[in-house]
Amino acid sequence: MSFAGKQVLLGVSGGIAAYKAAEVVRRLVGEGARVKVVMTAAAREFVQPLTFEALSGQPVACRLFGPGTQPLEHVALGQEVDAVIIAPATANLIGKLAAGLGDDLLTTVMLAATRPVLLCPAMNDRMWDNPVVRENLDRLSARGYQVLPPASGDLACGAVGPGRLPEPELIVEAAARLVTPQDLAGARLVVTAGPTHEDLDPVRFLTNRSTGKMGYAVAKMARRRGAVVTLVTGPSSLAAPHGVEVVPVRSAREMLAAVEKHFDAADALIMAAAVGDYRPESLAETKLKRGKDHLEVSLVQNPDILKAVAARKGRRLVVGFAAETGALLAEAGRKLREKNLDLIVANEVNRPDAGFAADTNEVVLLSRQEPPVALPLMSKEEVADRILDWLAPRLAARRQEEPGG
Ligand code: PMT
Repeated sequence: MSFAGKQVLLGVSGGIAAYKAAEVVRRLVGEGARVKVVMTAAAREFVQPLTFEALSGQPVACRLFGPGTQPLEHVALGQEVDAVIIAPATANLIGKLAAGLGDDLLTTVMLAATRPVLLCPAMNDRMWDNPVVRENLDRLSARGYQVLPPASGDLACGAVGPGRLPEPELIVEAAARLVTPQDLAGARLVVTAGPTHEDLDPVRFLTNRSTGKMGYAVAKMARRRGAVVTLVTGPSSLAAPHGVEVVPVRSAREMLAAVEKHFDAADALIMAAAVGDYRPESLAETKLKRGKDHLEVSLVQNPDILKAVAARKGRRLVVGFAAETGALLAEAGRKLREKNLDLIVANEVNRPDAGFAADTNEVVLLSRQEPPVALPLMSKEEVADRILDWLAPRLAARRQEEPGG
């Protein structure tokens, strides 16, 4: 998890979107962060500090002076943390930060802050269009602040336009990139996920139990680490990871075409998809009717996508998964060699807490040269990170070897 062991300072200024900041805290804490909230006086008109205290498990800092304040808190807070998020950032606060003012705790903390800052403006659409607000934001961007532009939609004032605070999930995703080493920056990855659907007639198909969770986790964590990610996905109900190009497909043959199309421009391919090995030999044009006691369906073999693209991989790195119900290492090792892979993620799938549909997974990383690495049970995002830990230095080394690298 990107936020495990990380400390985040969340500054909340006074706009109606202050209530959404509570959800930002909940998500950050859920991802393992320690969150310290600083509120302006105007923010406290919209939301009680108690809301943030309950969600963060820490006292909320509100004042520069008076009872409960800590000496030098205004200097220490912005240096002790790994990142600062300001959400919502009002036009007033943005103006004060751009001008270098420090007339309350949050602005003073920001004057002394040395850590990366994510600024999430939210305001009325006319304020957002005001050149002075844009100039202030340009000045802050030039000083290294990351600015997450507001979303468009219904505003609290009744207008429709830009100015809404982006969804908490998006804010957390942008903040995750601030605290995650960008060791895949510049790398182009193709990731596959989910099942395939092999049509039998207009209403029926053959499929498997893959939900896409494993592949989506790989795409999400790779994007957090700076990669440009194309996710080729079979049918899945999961939301697309932010900042990832999603290419939806249904059948194995559609997945092959999509992978082949994007593989040429990629530096690596990671195939977590559960591709149907067989499809019905023919597709009935009308719905098959009930009546016969026995119905035989003839199946033909689908192309092996990994084998096809890995045969012409050149300098690209190719990672496969092996879903096994027995002889895990022997079968995974065979697939590693037969499919010409650089790494295979051996995945025992006949248990409830690993493999298909679970949020957790337990795998063994098997490569050509190194001894197998057996990972304990962990979340699929952590598994994704361990695969990317293997990939990142090898991709960097290959880039170094390139002319001009
Ligand atoms: O999606 P989830 O619910 O999170 O489940 C995750 C998962 C169990 C699907 C995933 O962790 C996993 O193990 N994926 C690989 C599933 C699979 O098809 O394994 P396999 O051993 O049959 O295939 C070996 C490799 O060849 C895989 O990388 C597969 O994508 C690829 N393959 C398989 C068949 C085929 N026709 N073409 C392929 O490219």
